[in-house]
Amino acid sequence: MATAMTAAYLFFLLVYIIDIFSSYPANVSSSMTTPIKPWKMALKLIHHDSIHSPYYNPNATISELAERAINGSLARIQYMSKIISTPNDEDARSRLVPASKAYGFFANISIGTPPVPQLLMIDTASNLLWFQCLPCTTCFKQSLPLFDPAKSSTYSNIRCGSPACKNSRGSCDPKNEYCNFKKSYLDGTSTAGNLASEQATFETSDEGTVKVPIEVLGCSHVSTLPVDGQESGILGLSYGAGNLPTLVKQLGSKFSYCIGNIYDPQYQYNQLILGDGAILEGDSTTLLTDKGFYFLDLEGISVGEKKLPIDPSTFKRGALGEGGVIIDSGATFTFLKEEGYVPLRNEVESLMAGILNRAASLPKYLCYTGSMERDLTGFPVVTLLFSGGAQLSLDTNSTFFQLTTNVLCMTILSVTPAMKGVSTIGVLAQQSYNVGYDIKQGKIFFQRIDCSVLESIV
Ligand SMILES: *[C@@H]1O[C@H](CO)[C@@H](O)[C@H](O)[C@H]1NC(C)=O
Ligand SMILES: *[C@@H]1O[C@H](CO)[C@@H](O)[C@H](O)[C@H]1NC(C)=O
Ligand SMILES: *[C@@H]1O[C@H](CO)[C@@H](O)[C@H](O)[C@H]1NC(C)=O
Ligand SMILES: *[C@@H]1O[C@H](CO)[C@@H](O)[C@H](O)[C@H]1NC(C)=O
Ligand SMILES: *[C@@H]1O[C@H](CO)[C@@H](O)[C@H](O)[C@H]1NC(C)=O
Repeated sequence: MATAMTAAYLFFLLVYIIDIFSSYPANVSSSMTTPIKPWKMALKLIHHDSIHSPYYNPNATISELAERAINGSLARIQYMSKIISTPNDEDARSRLVPASKAYGFFANISIGTPPVPQLLMIDTASNLLWFQCLPCTTCFKQSLPLFDPAKSSTYSNIRCGSPACKNSRGSCDPKNEYCNFKKSYLDGTSTAGNLASEQATFETSDEGTVKVPIEVLGCSHVSTLPVDGQESGILGLSYGAGNLPTLVKQLGSKFSYCIGNIYDPQYQYNQLILGDGAILEGDSTTLLTDKGFYFLDLEGISVGEKKLPIDPSTFKRGALGEGGVIIDSGATFTFLKEEGYVPLRNEVESLMAGILNRAASLPKYLCYTGSMERDLTGFPVVTLLFSGGAQLSLDTNSTFFQLTTNVLCMTILSVTPAMKGVSTIGVLAQQSYNVGYDIKQGKIFFQRIDCSVLESIV
């Protein structure tokens, strides 16, 4: 009896140990010989306006920050819509959304051997991890030293004729043995250089490190992006069509991020997890990838208990792929197609009637004279309802923002004509959520959570 139990226990232990080891992603090596806690490829996300960001300006007024975020969102979404709505224009389709005016998140990622930190902008709408490298013919200013591939023992240029070069649609000059890339952005700027494989290093919570060989990244020698002088490049998190090798695909087609309070410049728990350690919890809804964007199936909106009269087909994509709803890491605000926006605006107007006055100077936005802290307590939660029952619940900090000390506005705006009916869910609407992307399963997970409870693993 005792022996049987011991045997059963040992068997259980064995299965458990095998399970721990088999949950490690392929081609990732850990410096830890006895992993006690499971590690994750986790990165702290630094919001553009936080005190941890190199762009932090303590003198910026809230209206300056808000105006810049509105301008940035408008420009970004108009570019995204242009790509979505031009099915036959190869030139527009092959170009990327400029990320340089996306006032979103940065992450510090260590590249090479020995590891050198690179400050990269996170962009769910582009498909390459690239940064500036020596020698640099045309560069933008960056705060960290330029990466020198000659000083890294794990750096290796991808060769012409290799599958990685072909699948990346790299270009090969007859006199060059290595594979080149060029990414052109819709604002006419571009970045170009070598495609390479290189190692990235992630720190674990228990002061160990995880080394991840990145199969394809861009080491850029010529960049004309109008970057403001801090970041070294972009960490593209889009999936990539067909067999295009992307970081997301290499790491198991999964990632997740947790976004806390954007308005609190001290907040430090925003984080990104790449690969198998991604947190895929909470309710899920359908996730579709197309043209490098992540599309969701938004079905309706409620305000408090009231479901708004919105035709469920409003947010569906049309036969030619027009319209639809994108979730984005670079746009601050949310833009809804007219037929979805108007019922929401009407409901908010009727709730505000007799309580707050419209701020007349801003007819394009739904703005009121008032202070969020003083005047919005008890305002009902606005909920975005997705197919399958998943939801994003927007409390007042997600539904409104303080434009000036005495004007507050709704963070959800109507699409502009240039957005061609494409709706976008921006970063403010994703506050207080962990968002998990499982691309192979075609699912996205929303879990309402305080990101600080996840901190122990970063
Ligand atoms: C792991 O890396 C080796 C060498 O780079 C490669 O041949 C192999 O296909 C990779 N395996 C996976 C599962 O990616
Ligand atoms: C903020 O204002 C102070 C005082 O006017 C000035 O010394 C400082 O340089 C300003 N900082 C920035 C980042 O503009
Ligand atoms: C925002 O865009 C408007 C109109 O294009 C422009 O006048 C304004 O200077 C921009 N503001 C910022 C902060 O970029
Ligand atoms: C990124 O890492 C470098 C080196 O550790 C550090 O100097 C820099 O301040 C970090 N940047 C941010 C925004 O955390
Ligand atoms: C909204 O943001 C303010 C400013 O950071 C914060 O004090 C408040 O607690 C937040 N409210 C909620 C409901 O998260």
